Amino acid sequence: MPRPQVLIVGGGMITHDQLLPSLYHIQRQGRIGQIAVCASRFSTVRDLARAALLLRAFPGQSFRALPERDGPPQPDLYREAIAALPPRQIVVVAVPDQLHYEVVMAALNRDQHVLCVKPLALEYGHAAAIEREARARRLLVAVEYHKRFDDRSLMARRKYRAGAFGEFRLGAARLFEKWYYRHSNFQNWMTAEHSDAFTYIGCHYVDLVHFITGLMPVSVSVYGVRDRFPNGNEGFLWTDARVVWSNGACLNVQNGLGFPDDAPGTNTQGLVLYCGGEDKGALLEHSDQYRGLKYSYTCQPDAPGVTIYAEPSPDYFQYVDFGGEGLTPVGYGYRSVEYILSSIIRLESRPELLDEFDRAGIIATPCNSSYNERVIEAGRQSILNGGAPVEIPQAQPPATNHQPPATASEARP
Ligand SMILES: NC(=O)c1ccc[n+]([C@@H]2O[C@H](COP(=O)([O-])OP(=O)(O)OC[C@H]3O[C@@H](n4cnc5c(N)ncnc54)[C@H](O)[C@@H]3O)[C@@H](O)[C@H]2O)c1
Repeated sequence: MPRPQVLIVGGGMITHDQLLPSLYHIQRQGRIGQIAVCASRFSTVRDLARAALLLRAFPGQSFRALPERDGPPQPDLYREAIAALPPRQIVVVAVPDQLHYEVVMAALNRDQHVLCVKPLALEYGHAAAIEREARARRLLVAVEYHKRFDDRSLMARRKYRAGAFGEFRLGAARLFEKWYYRHSNFQNWMTAEHSDAFTYIGCHYVDLVHFITGLMPVSVSVYGVRDRFPNGNEGFLWTDARVVWSNGACLNVQNGLGFPDDAPGTNTQGLVLYCGGEDKGALLEHSDQYRGLKYSYTCQPDAPGVTIYAEPSPDYFQYVDFGGEGLTPVGYGYRSVEYILSSIIRLESRPELLDEFDRAGIIATPCNSSYNERVIEAGRQSILNGGAPVEIPQAQPPATNHQPPATASEARP
């Protein structure tokens, strides 16, 4: 594939923090061509183009900004931008959750590969429609669950699937973003009628438990606490979910936009799985926020949520200086984007890889990860009904290359 063009739809936080810098770095290596970013408002792409950290890290690089000039919002401009691409380029979908489906379908209908931020869609039926369309056109749709590319997740997956932990029985996961998130653009879309803290961030840990164990979720209940954003919009800003798995195991997932701004670290998050082997307990615990670094600065940094005493994560997304001009992005946020982009590039010369990606289960595709949409759809029903349990219809899991042990007794470390 000659260097593909990349169009990012959406110019918000995730585009600034992870997607655009990852793509700039891949472009710097000569592996992709022009990058365009399409938002509905000119001010979004203008501010992104002026972002100081991106200018410092990628001197001489830029993106094509759409809209090109100021004016009223253009929520359908992305359709023209997609239509202007030659077929089989790459569209990166980074708009609010409830818009993913229409943007992904618009890209597929124009024969474009897709990288979509999580969650792919809010309903299982939408994920299934995306899968049908992508399969018919032999295009890759990759859902960017970057925690999969954290080495600790890949280590846990390999050891669990080799039987080292026996069988998952009971566990807990948490991810609380800082309070200041309430003041961001989230207050305009993460509202009670569209989303909730579990849908927005809990899905990462549901996906990880499947990624590690191969188990499928069978029922979910989500209790949500309604709270107000600063603009008065109401959201389920605190959620407590119980996800039951195909072997009867149970995972509690707590989420919120409420971790204190004055606390160290950009959030608090982690996972603990209690497991059982043959007459032996087993434990898998990840502290995903505290990665062993303690920094105490001489003065308070001027950025939201950054504290004078900090516990930064070196693992998600950082810039390092290898000398020369600019900075190099490192971390699993970069690796995830790079893995997906290089898979798309390889796919263009080896079409048989598409089925292999579905089977391998490293990249989340609509075929191998639509349990996530089933959980989200059931979770939304539950939260709107006071936390009532909702059964998840079972689909056949795709045959992956690494099947988990069927029972604890088959498990051998
Ligand atoms: N950890 C993660 O995986 C992670 C983290 C953050 C966000 N996300 C996901 O990324 C998506 C975007 O989140 P964000 O944090 O960047 O939100 P954000 O509110 O900062 O940005 C959303 C962007 O979408 C753009 N947009 C909205 N409607 C549009 C339209 N019709 N056409 C073009 N652009 C449009 C807005 O202009 C804005 O730039 C969400 O789905 C979110 O769940 C994932």
